[in-house]
Amino acid sequence: MAIINKSVALTMFLTFQGVLSFGSISRHAVTSTSRRSIVTVFSTAEQAAAAAPTSNEKKEGPIKNEQAYANLKMEEIVSLCKRRGIIFPSSEIYNGFAGFFDYGPLGAELKRNVKDAFWKNFVHNREDVVGIDSSIIHNPITWQSSGHLDGFSDPMVDCRETKLRYRADQLFCSPVVLEECGSTVGFVCVLEANDEDMVKEATSQAKKLLKEKEMKGSAIKAFQFRDLTQVTEEEMAQIPSPGSNKPTLTMPRDFNLMFQTNVGAMQDASSVAYLRPETAQGIFINYKNVVGSSRVKIPFGIAQIGKAFRNEITPRNFIFRSREFEQMEIEYFIPPGDEEWKPYHEKWIADSRAFLEQVGLKDELMGYDVHEGDGLAHYARACTDITFKFPFGVQELMGIAARGDFDLKSHSEGSGKVLDYFDEETKEKFIPHVIEPSLGVDRLILALICSAYAEDEINGEKRSYLSFHPSIAPVKVAVLPLVKNKEPLVEAARDLFDKLSKRWNVQWDQTGAIGRRYRRADEVGVPFCVTVDFETIEDNAGVTIRDRDSTDQVRIPIDEVIPYLSKMIDGY
Ligand code: GAP
Repeated sequence: MAIINKSVALTMFLTFQGVLSFGSISRHAVTSTSRRSIVTVFSTAEQAAAAAPTSNEKKEGPIKNEQAYANLKMEEIVSLCKRRGIIFPSSEIYNGFAGFFDYGPLGAELKRNVKDAFWKNFVHNREDVVGIDSSIIHNPITWQSSGHLDGFSDPMVDCRETKLRYRADQLFCSPVVLEECGSTVGFVCVLEANDEDMVKEATSQAKKLLKEKEMKGSAIKAFQFRDLTQVTEEEMAQIPSPGSNKPTLTMPRDFNLMFQTNVGAMQDASSVAYLRPETAQGIFINYKNVVGSSRVKIPFGIAQIGKAFRNEITPRNFIFRSREFEQMEIEYFIPPGDEEWKPYHEKWIADSRAFLEQVGLKDELMGYDVHEGDGLAHYARACTDITFKFPFGVQELMGIAARGDFDLKSHSEGSGKVLDYFDEETKEKFIPHVIEPSLGVDRLILALICSAYAEDEINGEKRSYLSFHPSIAPVKVAVLPLVKNKEPLVEAARDLFDKLSKRWNVQWDQTGAIGRRYRRADEVGVPFCVTVDFETIEDNAGVTIRDRDSTDQVRIPIDEVIPYLSKMIDGY
């Protein structure tokens, strides 16, 4: 890599000491369009892309704040999303609507890119997966067969005084036990959060309790948290409600999460239908159609991306758990058997993890949660969640379940239709088993925003930016004419902008100093800024392309911009 000039601190935009030509890489030019930037001149996109610094190679540049994510609070994410037009609370002019969110101009692009990346990776790039797009409202018998009508519920407790409703498995109580004699003086009750916050809240409640009991300052044992599905009636009578601070909670009851609606003119029991709580059932009820109309052979998958609705008792943590969200699901049909599913399950876990890394989730923020025994849904043989370390704790990001033949069998029984598969090679008929990778679009978007959040310092100047992977970044390129009052320069920039816009979502910015424009682009995670300057038009010396994360710049011929960006954004 030929570095023409490093770390040139210039307040003026350019010092041009020679003629640039793109025939070879050796130059006697000094170029810099920003403070402490490295500008490297290349004659082809290929050379420039090959020389792009990896994080290991990077020798100098911004000083990263390694603690930025550890210190990040959810409120900051929510506010950043609103400020930058990524996500807004729904119906905000009417004071919002709990559990619903709207995607703004950048959020809509981000969402589209995330769904496209999933589809490209798991449908277009594989020969064994096809896609469908089913209706949201199915014949209600679907939900009887799938078990959702009887079993898709969460345990709920009500506060008799405040009328607030909580998910019993998200409220945790602990006895307050005196260190000295081991006797219990009462209970504390806190909402699920990260361990540190739960202990902090419980400690504050315990202090109040000891004061009421005139035992202020007494030492207590470490809290032993249990969720409220595990308490007896006798204990519940002593557990304070988080709303009233008095024992006013009911015992847990099941609450079905499906949203009901009525189809047709009649509003009676016969017209009740449901908004789908998952996209998976739309796949199962189309299994026969897909097998009959496509040339799929076991093992094969059917993918679907679409809206799902759950009347969550306590929608929480922004878009992590909302009442309307989108899912990206695949039902992967495999041969039956007690052992056959295991390698398929393993492979789907590995492929899912690889996809999450490919779209930019940091490896160190992901983990696994293997469900066993009671932790498994009744139909599942195995389920592994890929978890993500959100600011509010480590939580499920996606699940990869081995569902056996439960779904196809249930729909076959419910509909009276044969849903088996005929293997032409073995001449056998069987109901396939299923591996189901299931990922929430919105939950992934939250993880991507968290993972991309970065802070650093360049020459003493702090910046915070979103380090989105180019493939999912809402805006891929910002085109910046260096000045806005020199017609040929602006025209050249416009011409480039128009060409780039045919391929990607591109931003035009001609207002303010170049450094400010870079910052504006960094804030919304634009990976590349293309600057058209005087050299571009006067010396036919190409344009500079600045990399958001390293802030390094390459100067390449204008005709090489699209091939270069193709490589950097789309990988080819
Ligand atoms: N078909 C299986 C299924 O729906 P799930 O664990 O209930 O399984 C799968 O949901 C994924 O959907 C979750 O891992 C999560 O990413 C997303 N998800 C579930 N409920 C959600 C909610 N209320 N808000 C946002 N995303 C949700």
